[in-house]
Amino acid sequence: MASLLHLDSSANRSDDSVSRELTSLFADTWRAAHGPTGECGRYRYVYRDLAADPVRPLDTAYCTLGRRLERNGLPPLADVGTWIRSPAEEREWALTRSLIAGLLAADTVVIGAPMYNFSVSALLKAWIDRVGFPGVFTDPDTGASLLRATNVVVIATRGGAYGPGTPREAWDFQTPYLRTYFGKQGVTEENIHFVSVEMTMAGVVPHLAHQQSSAADSLASARAEVTALAATVGRSASRTAV
Ligand SMILES: Cc1cc2nc3c(=O)[nH]c(=O)nc-3n(C[C@H](O)[C@H](O)[C@H](O)COP(=O)(O)O)c2cc1C
Repeated sequence: MASLLHLDSSANRSDDSVSRELTSLFADTWRAAHGPTGECGRYRYVYRDLAADPVRPLDTAYCTLGRRLERNGLPPLADVGTWIRSPAEEREWALTRSLIAGLLAADTVVIGAPMYNFSVSALLKAWIDRVGFPGVFTDPDTGASLLRATNVVVIATRGGAYGPGTPREAWDFQTPYLRTYFGKQGVTEENIHFVSVEMTMAGVVPHLAHQQSSAADSLASARAEVTALAATVGRSASRTAV
């Protein structure tokens, strides 16, 4: 059964959030393309709003458990529980394991990722740090990544412009960062898709007012890209929940 994990990480939960509008467009289009849900449905859909329901930041127990696993050759996901040595580690692992299971159960993940201070929001970073637990995406039988067939769609919004050839191109630590992170976890280059919306602050900041028409063009292209991607990404996929 096809499965979509939908994450929003904009701190702005109002209708002004561009990433929320576009992840929602993606999810609606994807669901329409995959048929009705319900007992006989053909897809599984999970939504998490990381602003309304934030992921707890890491603590000492998470690090202690992770270091123990590193020292012992990174046991597979199914064996991590046998290395837990304290109630605090138990609590940390329960939180972490449920996020990892949610990611592994999805064949497509759509992420609303606004640029905050040239990078991603702390809300998304908290999710990233937890799911990036050492060794858990390695298939113990083959050594390949368990995410090698996962599709990741990132909706990257930013108030300014960071596209190729712009003066601030090198200040973009949002999309290169996410490409590196998911690539390192084993998501393949062809399965990671970025839709960027530039100049979202053009209608808000007076000195950017002259950019309003290019901002509108960027948003219109993004809507078209999102609609096309949602109709095609993850078709004919099937994944068993972990
Ligand atoms: C805390 C914060 C930091 C931001 N930092 C940047 C930045 O470094 N560069 C930029 O172009 N826009 C920046 N912005 C503007 C947002 O990227 C822009 O408003 C974006 O559309 C927010 O995503 P959303 O519309 O999905 O909420 C920042 C906004 C906030 C709230």
